[in-house]
Amino acid sequence: MARILTGIQSSGKPHLGNLLGAYLPAIEMSKKPENDSFFFIADLHSVTTIKEAEIRKQNTLATAAAWLAVGFDTDKNTFYRQSRVPEVCELTWFLACFTPIPMLENAHSYKDKLDKLGQGQKSKINAGLFAYPVLMAADIIGYDANFVPVGKDQKQHLEITRDIANSFNHQYGETFVVPEVKIDENIMVIPGTDGNKMSKSYGNIIDIFQTDKQLRKNVMAIVTDSTPLEEPKNPDTCNVFALYKVLGSPDQTAQLREKYLGGNYGYGHAKQELFELIIDRFGDVREKFAWLMEHPEDVEQKLQEGEDKARPVIRGVLDRVREKLGFERV
Ligand code: ADP
Ligand code: TRP
Repeated sequence: MARILTGIQSSGKPHLGNLLGAYLPAIEMSKKPENDSFFFIADLHSVTTIKEAEIRKQNTLATAAAWLAVGFDTDKNTFYRQSRVPEVCELTWFLACFTPIPMLENAHSYKDKLDKLGQGQKSKINAGLFAYPVLMAADIIGYDANFVPVGKDQKQHLEITRDIANSFNHQYGETFVVPEVKIDENIMVIPGTDGNKMSKSYGNIIDIFQTDKQLRKNVMAIVTDSTPLEEPKNPDTCNVFALYKVLGSPDQTAQLREKYLGGNYGYGHAKQELFELIIDRFGDVREKFAWLMEHPEDVEQKLQEGEDKARPVIRGVLDRVREKLGFERV
């Protein structure tokens, strides 16, 4: 059995890019009989940026509902909120004492923020953001994870995790499982409504979990050029086509390409086809998500069951650490 572990921050309502780039590939891995998956909501990490309680609660619910809506099997696997297994904070402390400062100074999470703000603005950066990779290391090491599927942007955090685990093992003998990063090179970067990478921070997302009417409006707002209706259009530079291509079958995509090249086919028509494709492809997922958002007590119950399964695992790891460091078990 290989243990697969991944977390998604509860920093927003999941969008189409998150679903195609993170949720669905992780679900595929979790379905393999040889994998035992720990998927969690990194709500403690979200405190580095989100300070409003109500927003975090809503985001956490939406993130959890998205995992369940895409079909995460919580009987076979383990599904939990990071914050509800607070042992991770104790492990973070121990790991922090084995983490050299320059390793954190070089971490993208901190460096990008510092670059954005400008040197000399360190007082605007909280220590939580600085220590972010240590909490992430505890998330992984604390559950004896073998493989961690993440996007390319998280690769460095995994290297930090491995360095910390190796350094501890080197001093105290085999204590931690050293995880391997699993970056699926086939995962595409999903473009947003303006053609840049879809991201909530760019305000260019497609939110598939809206009502039909809102979703249609969202799709109709995709940026297109001003080629007149009658003229042929270039599918390869069109933001609508780019999204259609990601979701449609090869046949559907080839047909749409023909329509673009043939002329007398407007962007409004293409947007309508994309809208219908999204509705078609995500009908079940959208329905399930909407239902779960109306029944937070069902989501809560699944999470609590997962938290009960997760706690003994990290307690076992902490017992090993405490023993090595000369602390009593608690
Ligand atoms: P955002 O960029 O909207 O803030 P996050 O950084 O919270 O999204 O990403 C959560 C997960 O979704 C990560 O695993 C990330 O790799 C994936 N993801 C985010 N945006 C995209 C995208 N446009 N295409 C593919 N995967 C994405
Ligand atoms: N930092 C990750 C992200 O923003 C989320 C995360 C937190 C995570 N802890 C993790 C991912 C542990 C994998 C494993 O995408």
